[in-house]
Amino acid sequence: MDSTNEEAERQLAAGRTAPFVVFSAAQSQGRGRFGRVWHSPAEGNLYLSFAFRPELPPERMHLFTLWMGLNLCELLALLAGVAPGLKWPNDLYYGERKVGGMLTEARIDADHTRDLVFGLGLNVNTPDSAWPREIAPRATTLAREAGHPLDLNQLAAAIVGRVLAAYDRFLARAPLDEVADLWSHHDILAGRRITVVQGSATHTGIARGIDNEGALLLRTEAGRTLRFRAGEVTLRKE
Ligand code: ATP
Ligand code: BTN
Repeated sequence: MDSTNEEAERQLAAGRTAPFVVFSAAQSQGRGRFGRVWHSPAEGNLYLSFAFRPELPPERMHLFTLWMGLNLCELLALLAGVAPGLKWPNDLYYGERKVGGMLTEARIDADHTRDLVFGLGLNVNTPDSAWPREIAPRATTLAREAGHPLDLNQLAAAIVGRVLAAYDRFLARAPLDEVADLWSHHDILAGRRITVVQGSATHTGIARGIDNEGALLLRTEAGRTLRFRAGEVTLRKE
């Protein structure tokens, strides 16, 4: 496929009943936030997108990717035997290397989220030689971290089960107060010096976790705490 997010959006636009999941063995136009490229080689990774039609007010959606990230972290810790960390707002890391990325795209009407696509790219069994040179030192795979290859079908089935269950819990609202607390256990940025890029402005400070709405908190050198919403900013680790 070009991109599983793109295909899910096409099927939603054509009226297909949600939820459904789209998988591809490879992607020719895999994308990340801000139109960045998601490298999607054909050697043993997962590229999948979930399509939902949630009747939710748009402001509830800010926590969606964070909530899914927490669920995936917990699942991968069980399946790979080693827990990944989360880089706000949408990446899964082992140490300094990225193992996966999430991309949530929604069509929003005046007062509710019309449809929602949650895309996940997970590096599973790709050999290091499959990465472009600039990605190789910054990417990892579950196989590399676990010390053995993982069965793609079993992994895919477990992820589908977990994401659908997490979606139901999200709609039921129950866990949302817990997100900031849970996040603190998996947050790889907390306590680190980072730079937040917002349009042409940059803000440097120490990452201080997230608030109850999922916004990133940054303590600046001047002693102020700034908050940033996902979707507006990108980060540079120092
Ligand atoms: P970074 O975490 O690298 O600073 P970012 O979080 O600011 O990036 P995103 O849009 O979330 O940016 O992720 C896209 C970036 O991820 C790409 O620019 C590329 O550097 C990296 N990348 C692309 N494909 C892969 C992949 N399969 N595995 C690991 N990293 C990838
Ligand atoms: C990021 O790190 O910015 C997010 C990367 C998301 C990649 C996945 S792969 C499956 C789905 N289809 C896409 O085109 N992107 C997402």
